[in-house]
Amino acid sequence: MKNSTYIAGFSFYVPDTILTNQDLEKKVDTNDEWIVSRTGIRQRHIVNSQACSDLAYEACLKTLERSSLMPGDITHIITATFTPDAYVPNAACIIMEKLGIRGIPALDVNAACTGFIYGIELARGLCVLWPGSKVLLVASEVVTSRINFKDRSTAVLFGDGAGACVISGESFDHNASAGYIRDVLLKADGSLGGLLTVKGGGSAYPLVPGQKADDDFFVQMEGREVFKHAVRSMKNISQDILERNNIVAEDIDLFIPHQANIRIIESLAKSMLISNDKIFVNVQEYGNTSAASVPIALADAWEKGRVKPGYLVLLVAFGGGFTWGAALIQF
Ligand SMILES: CC(C)(COP(=O)(O)OP(=O)(O)OC[C@H]1O[C@@H](n2cnc3c(N)ncnc32)[C@H](O)[C@@H]1OP(=O)(O)O)[C@@H](O)C(=O)NCCC(=O)NCCS
Repeated sequence: MKNSTYIAGFSFYVPDTILTNQDLEKKVDTNDEWIVSRTGIRQRHIVNSQACSDLAYEACLKTLERSSLMPGDITHIITATFTPDAYVPNAACIIMEKLGIRGIPALDVNAACTGFIYGIELARGLCVLWPGSKVLLVASEVVTSRINFKDRSTAVLFGDGAGACVISGESFDHNASAGYIRDVLLKADGSLGGLLTVKGGGSAYPLVPGQKADDDFFVQMEGREVFKHAVRSMKNISQDILERNNIVAEDIDLFIPHQANIRIIESLAKSMLISNDKIFVNVQEYGNTSAASVPIALADAWEKGRVKPGYLVLLVAFGGGFTWGAALIQF
């Protein structure tokens, strides 16, 4: 069975409105010094009135252009998100309509901040079944729609945005930005789910007509615990994927971790002995955009010339569930 899969057309889109730490100081009891020293975040982009599909649409248009594909060439759409426009229809169906695509499978995947890496593996599976596939994978989040701006412990951490790419069983020979997906590794542990939640509105915490949304409708997190698990899990899965590909951290040319917090990234890189010049960081500009964080960072790195032909790139993410995953891409 042919199981080679390729990835191309990296793009991202963030809304125009910027929310700085100074802006947050006016909304909640916090300050720039605390936010920068604990998280590295200086600003984040937030929607005005756009929904998940609006951000995704912009990223997808650029991805189609960068991969020299027409909307009609796409065979599947996968959206990674925990903040879709609606429960029904799913975000992928709304995005396909905006792109003018009909009659192909369109589905959402929710693995919180690991959603993009989960999406890569699902797309890979489709490409093994149907090598001619051109899977449009977009991770898009309006995290601020689920942030309680009265809760300073979460309000300062997140931003909105989308990142997209195309995955195919056929190589993108004509495309200088294309990579070969060498391996993907996914994990999850539901026993730790209570440490990072957005419970309200689900069937276990249903909406009651007329009832006001309470704290359960927004991101709630045991920050310190999440921090420890994030470092440990991303370190372990990174080492596992390196080992099963018979390579060591030194062989990685560019390391693109989930952009949640600079201290998490630095602890992770230190524990893996990856030098600073090989780590891509843009959390200072965008905050944590959940599933969109890794594809935004990948596209940003590519646009800045940090992804070069011949490079071996390691992506790693961690999120609610808990879920975590890693992907090795050979450019
Ligand atoms: C959230 C996080 C930055 C908090 O940093 P921390 O060093 O653990 O801080 P703590 O939660 O222990 O709080 C320390 C103090 O700062 C205060 N504090 C919390 N948020 C604050 C804010 N935005 N501004 C100012 N002070 C704040 C707390 O109230 C606490 O005060 P106290 O000592 O008087 O009780 C950190 O735990 C973290 O990054 N966790 C991982 C979060 C994450 O990235 N999650 C997503 C993963 S997908």
